[in-house]
Amino acid sequence: QLRAGRSRIMALLVLDLGNPFFVDIARGAEETAQDEGLHVITCDSGHQAEREVSYLSMLAEQRVRGVLLSPVDTSGAALETFRRSEIPYVFVDRRVPADEASSVSVDDVTGGALAARHLVETGHTEIAFVNGPAILAQCRDREAGVRSVLDASAARLSVLETSELDVASGRDAAARLLGMSPRPTAVFCANDLLALGVLQGMVAAGVRVPDELAIVGYDDIEFAGAAAVPLTSVRQPARRLGKAAAELLIAETGESERVPERQTVVFEPELVVRASTRLTR
Ligand code: RIB
Repeated sequence: QLRAGRSRIMALLVLDLGNPFFVDIARGAEETAQDEGLHVITCDSGHQAEREVSYLSMLAEQRVRGVLLSPVDTSGAALETFRRSEIPYVFVDRRVPADEASSVSVDDVTGGALAARHLVETGHTEIAFVNGPAILAQCRDREAGVRSVLDASAARLSVLETSELDVASGRDAAARLLGMSPRPTAVFCANDLLALGVLQGMVAAGVRVPDELAIVGYDDIEFAGAAAVPLTSVRQPARRLGKAAAELLIAETGESERVPERQTVVFEPELVVRASTRLTR
């Protein structure tokens, strides 16, 4: 029976491998794991809490060295049984608030503020924010950042909430935006998949981007820059997130009996300006 942490396998359990953001996190974790002679298995919970529980149970049985986790269930219920395995875990991208495990994330309040400030500075006064479900701290924080800027500006904000953070939900949001009166002249989306869906819907409707509608995304995945109209996006350093989370987990599962201090690592986002927004007022 392997003692917890003696396996050479590190597991990464993410929300959605259909989102390149998580693939970049996996790449970062792999780079760090390989440097340590470890292997990474990547599991996809597909935003489903029951799949998350099932994967955690399998990983406990396999006595993996540790788990990097981007939790679906941020209430922590999914982790209750897993904790009994005493296998170390580190949160990446989002965390269970009450859990004291180490975590690596990005300051999403600043991220939302960066997007909103760029739209105000380029002259927009009718701005929409297409957000994901409020159960996710990321979405709440990005919205808080948007409001911190727009509340202090002359711009009017309309918030549209989607149930998923994916391209299809972005296309649905585009249809809703086209029906609004007055129609916003700019839209900030809670991630790049939503923004790519909005862009797809607008191009299909013959709306000129950015002249009739400016679009800003979030994450800066590889496809943001390669989009039909290259997307302005708030970059999350996904690979660095993956590397940092793997480094924390390796430190917490090392040879020494001394368990290092839990750490909360927060990276700063940056705005990457491209053709989907205007450069000047
Ligand atoms: O999981 C959906 C989103 O949350 C990703 O696009 C990334 O922004 C993460 O923080």
